[in-house]
Amino acid sequence: MLSWDELENACLSCRRCGLAEGRTNVVFGVGNREADVMFVGEGPGYYEDQKGEPFVGRAGQLLDKMLESVGLDRQKVYIANVVKCRPPENRDPLPEEQECCLTFLRAQFALIRPKILVCLGRISAKVIIDRNFSITNERGLWFERKGVWMTATFHPAALLRDEGKKPLAWEDMKAIRSKLKELAK
Ligand code: URA
Repeated sequence: MLSWDELENACLSCRRCGLAEGRTNVVFGVGNREADVMFVGEGPGYYEDQKGEPFVGRAGQLLDKMLESVGLDRQKVYIANVVKCRPPENRDPLPEEQECCLTFLRAQFALIRPKILVCLGRISAKVIIDRNFSITNERGLWFERKGVWMTATFHPAALLRDEGKKPLAWEDMKAIRSKLKELAK
């Protein structure tokens, strides 16, 4: 298994797919490398690409508030994306780009060994939980695989577009807090 340094260096110099062409920075991941809970988004946007850190734009500010609402923050959790380089015009990452980048996410997951994995949005849930995952119908459900509990909630950017989804996202965050308590026993 790669060490964190080896993994991060490999990721920062990766040119396996076309997204490498347009990036300013690789957005590797941030947070606690011994976290019980890992959040996985889709891919960097403009601000993330500029800064090299996930979820630092408007959606990120909302994610911080969502974390804070259940007593979590960036020092307590780990945050990463399915793809580490910004897709042009913030389009969905292509299946082949996701495939190229998944080795990094898998390696991050293997090093952290979180108890809970939270998918932020459709793309992440399809890659991690099930390729037919429906965020509308299946968010908030829990799936256990090899001792790891997985769930998905709306992407914070979707909550910014549709405030009506916020109460459901709030329920999901409370369920994550409860699951964490349950697993800490
Ligand atoms: N959206 C994502 O999915 N990830 C980020 O890092 C920022 C916005």
